[in-house]
Amino acid sequence: MRITWLGHAAFILEGSKTVLIDPFISGNPKAPLKATDLKADVIAVTHGHGDHLGDAIEISKANNCPIVCIYELSRIIGKNAVGMNIGGTAEVEGVLFTMTPALHSADVEIDGKIVSAGCAAGFVIEMDGIRVYHAGDTGVFYDMKLIGELYEPDVALIPIGGWYTMGPKEAAKAVELIKPKIVVPMHYGTFPVISGSPEEFKELVEDKCPGVKVVILNPGESFEV
Ligand code: NI
Ligand code: MN
Repeated sequence: MRITWLGHAAFILEGSKTVLIDPFISGNPKAPLKATDLKADVIAVTHGHGDHLGDAIEISKANNCPIVCIYELSRIIGKNAVGMNIGGTAEVEGVLFTMTPALHSADVEIDGKIVSAGCAAGFVIEMDGIRVYHAGDTGVFYDMKLIGELYEPDVALIPIGGWYTMGPKEAAKAVELIKPKIVVPMHYGTFPVISGSPEEFKELVEDKCPGVKVVILNPGESFEV
């Protein structure tokens, strides 16, 4: 599987299928490409906030592909949305999506109106036998240990920017609980307030969790797992 960071919480997972996660491209100052350049077989959206739903609806229309998200948000999106909920696993296009809790809020702005859109979530995505945990926007919570024990993710994508999510200190604790093989920091540097440092995060993880590899990417960069 090839994992590419598009800045913020947006990733592409390329294996037997192409999975796009939280494709916030338009309005993202760090996005390395245009939303119209993106191809996908499935899009996963962790919650309705604009920096996560992003261009999902437009990309879904252009590629005629499903959007996997929490039930309430799926009702708002309508066509092409596959609603699910926390604790469940949905098989979509041959890829397994397990929805995990996230300690965060969620609404969505549709046609200038802000409406409630279920709660925020994360995903464990399994494709070609590789499991990737995208934590979504979240604070640290002790049940991350359960996510680690149940799904044994190969890769964890973890917010470290602070202000709206965990900062480096809490994110390093999250890695200690999840115990992935590889961790990639995300949700930092996009805007001035999400200033959490990936280098500080890396130092803390290497200190607390020897054996976990920290992969720091620049927007547009990828790695193979
Ligand atoms: Ni959010
Ligand atoms: Mn966010």
